[in-house]
Amino acid sequence: MFSKLFNRKKKEAVYDELPRTANANWAFLGADMHSHFIPGIDDGAKTIADSLALLRAMAAMGYKTIITTPHVMVDYYPNNTRTIQEGLAAVQAAAKENNIDLTIRAAAEYYIDESFMKLLETEPLLTIYQKEVLVEFSMMYEPPMLFDVIFKMQSAGYKPIIAHPERYLFFHKDFKRYRDLKDKGCMLQLNMLSLTGYYGKNVKMIADELLAKGLYDYCGSDMHHEKHAAALAGMTNTKEYDRFIGYPFLNPRLVNG
Ligand SMILES: [Fe+2]
Repeated sequence: MFSKLFNRKKKEAVYDELPRTANANWAFLGADMHSHFIPGIDDGAKTIADSLALLRAMAAMGYKTIITTPHVMVDYYPNNTRTIQEGLAAVQAAAKENNIDLTIRAAAEYYIDESFMKLLETEPLLTIYQKEVLVEFSMMYEPPMLFDVIFKMQSAGYKPIIAHPERYLFFHKDFKRYRDLKDKGCMLQLNMLSLTGYYGKNVKMIADELLAKGLYDYCGSDMHHEKHAAALAGMTNTKEYDRFIGYPFLNPRLVNG
């Protein structure tokens, strides 16, 4: 029990050291549309204290609206609309009680596999905006049914947003695959920290190129923990920050969406 208390104290102390940006430099984006703030249901926030600390950091960076997106991945994070909505209600209540000035909504980050195919046929999906749905897949190998799933989603009226396309290693050697995704009607979401080299040099190179070619539609923090929060706050002091200001990300339309 003592060690539990000690660990909790230690964790809170780390969060207390998070940079607090006084000038709210990410305010121009208005909304973040990819994060893991619902405690205990995926690999993001573990406790409600974690959620509150991360939400405070987002508010301090100038965000107004958060659409948090727990993983839906059958073997690891078997979430569904009920687990997500219940978790969201708890986070909203805690944020209100703690005077955190954010509008918090929830969608999901769906992992493309066989069970997602079934889900698509049986249940309505949680959406980011209108019929836009955030999806991810294995970083290591291309799912054989990727384009079938994209087609099925579209037939059901959804528009796929591919999470962090720069992180899928098997696309790196063939840049035109990114154009294929766009041509097939997918939207692309940049993980903001990819531009800093946080996920490695190759991921940064691809993110640089996708941004330079105007292929991204949204950007997202994909925030899981305090290291991500500190890195995102610190990014506003780097040269990469200017590249966001000039780019027409669709995030602001989510503020009232
Ligand atoms: Fe994510």
